[in-house]
Amino acid sequence: MSSVLFVCLGNICRSPTAHGVFQALVERQGLRDQIRVDSAGTGAWHAGESPDSRATQAAARRGYDLSQQVARQVVAADFDQFDYILAMDQANLAHLRQMKPEAYSGYLGLFLDFADCSESEVPDPYYGGGQGFEQVLDLVESASEGLLDAIRRGGR
Ligand code: 4NP
Repeated sequence: MSSVLFVCLGNICRSPTAHGVFQALVERQGLRDQIRVDSAGTGAWHAGESPDSRATQAAARRGYDLSQQVARQVVAADFDQFDYILAMDQANLAHLRQMKPEAYSGYLGLFLDFADCSESEVPDPYYGGGQGFEQVLDLVESASEGLLDAIRRGGR
C-alpha cells in the first residue's frame, strides 16, 4: 500500500485536479486497493468547499470527476499518513517543509519532479483564464504517469 497527498494553496484548483487525474490512472491500472490518493491546501480559506467549477469542468471534459471532492487544509497528521507529499509550487513546498516532522521518512517534493517537462511548478490558475486550467491538466497528466512509474519502481 502506497499513499499520495497532493498539496496546493487553496485545495480547489490544482491539487484536486492532481487528485482526480492520478486517482483515475490508479483505477485504470487496477491499483485502487494499493494506492491511496488525497489532496489538501496549505491555506484554509476554502475548507469544506467543492473544487472550483472551472477546474471541475475542465477535468470533466477530459473524463475526470472532481465533483465529490471537498477541500481541506493540510495537517501535521498527514505526515504520519502519506508516503508521498507532493507540492504544486515552491511556496507550497516551503510551507510543508516547515511543518515536516524530523522523523518523516516519506518523499516530500514537487509533483513536477515526476513530469517529463521543463517546468518545475504547476502555475496557479485561480486568477487567470480558462487556458490556465488546461495547462494544469497537461502538467498533471504528465506528472501522474511519472509518479506511478516511480511508485512501481520504488515499491513504497
Ligand atoms: P489552488 O488555487 O491553490 O490551485 O487551489 C487557488 C485557490 C484559491 C486561492 C488561491 C489559489 N485563493 O487565494 O483563494
